[in-house]
This record gives sequence, C-alpha cells and structure tokens, in this order.
Amino acid sequence: MSAVLKDVPELKPMRESDLAEVTAIEDAIYTHPWTRGNFADSLRAGYECRTLRLGGELIAYFVLMSAAGEAHLLNLSVAARHQRRGHGAMLLGEAMALARRLGARSLFLEVRPSNRGAQALYTRFGFRKAGVRRAYYPAAIGREDALVLTLPLQ
Ligand SMILES: CC(C)(COP(=O)(O)OP(=O)(O)OC[C@H]1O[C@@H](n2cnc3c(N)ncnc32)[C@H](O)[C@@H]1OP(=O)(O)O)[C@@H](O)C(=O)NCCC(=O)NCCS
Repeated sequence: MSAVLKDVPELKPMRESDLAEVTAIEDAIYTHPWTRGNFADSLRAGYECRTLRLGGELIAYFVLMSAAGEAHLLNLSVAARHQRRGHGAMLLGEAMALARRLGARSLFLEVRPSNRGAQALYTRFGFRKAGVRRAYYPAAIGREDALVLTLPLQ
C-alpha cells in the first residue's frame, strides 16, 4: 500500500473488538477514564460509537447519543501522540453531521472547566455555554463541576 493511502484516516463504527485499544487510549489520557463496561454498555444501548484509524492504528473515537431531537456527545477522545493534528476537529464535524442526519436540532456536551484545550475546540465550532452541572465529575480532591455547552444544528 502506498504511504499516501496508508495515511488516510478511516472512520468506522466502533465494535466490541475495538475496546482494548479504546480503553488503552482512555486510560492514558484521562484521570477518571470510562471503563470497558461503559463503552460496552454504549454499544449495547445502540449509541452512535465511531473509531478513527490511521494506518490501521486506532487513534481516536467518539460516542454520541441522539434522542427526541437532541444529541449528546458523551465522549470525544484522541490518543495523546496524535493530538493537535486536526483529528478531534474532524471527528467533531462527523459527530455534528451524524446528529443532524439523526434529526437532532441541537448538540450538547459536558466539559471540565479545567479542560481548556477541549473548550477551545468546542468554542471554535460555535458551542456556547448553556449552564453548569455542579459536582458532576470525580476529581483528585472531591468533585469538579461540568460546563454544559450547546450548539444549534439548524
Ligand atoms: C480535546 C481533543 C478531543 C481535541 O482533539 P485534537 O485532535 O487534539 O484537536 P485538533 O487538532 O482537532 O484541534 C482543533 C482546534 O481545537 C483547538 N484546540 C484543540 N486542542 C487544544 C489545546 N490543547 N489547547 C488549545 N487549543 C486546542 C485549537 O483551536 C485547534 O486548532 P489549532 O491546532 O489549529 O490551534 C483531544 O485533545 C483530546 O482527546 N484530549 C483529551 C480528552 C479530552 O479532553 N476530550 C474532551 C472531553 S470533553
């Protein structure tokens, strides 16, 4: 295979067989990662779960739930050594397009106030702060609030 073809990122539905690679990334990039069970439950529940592979290596993924005209981005992650190369932006664009196709009029998500990098990405896509969920995330000491960000899709 040519280097050019090998380097085209492939977006695919996440499968149970991807979960070892997914949780390896998850464990490496979060202080409080989702468990294998969280992903397996998401697959079983029929949530929209996608992986991104580059040269065969799983490098990023998202989990999206869509119901009653509203979509919720539950997880968006890029492996540490592949961050800041546009993969997160590409996946976010895919999640938005998918939510629209599923009939969602808006997309929302939670983010830690301390996660400035992710907030920069979401702001760039037009997400705006809609509220705060108090003590939503586990933290090193106690709990951390979540910012709720929303984006109209129509
Ligand atoms: C947040 C995350 C998904 C972004 O994915 P990524 O592939 O690294 O981001 P991209 O390269 O697509 O960035 C697109 C733009 O978002 C903004 N951005 C992304 N990461 C940033 C960072 N760490 N600091 C500042 N701005 C950032 C920038 O505007 C960037 O454009 P630029 O690189 O031209 O400046 C990824 O860094 C990640 O998985 N982080 C750990 C897990 C996480 O925080 N997930 C989100 C939970 S809500």
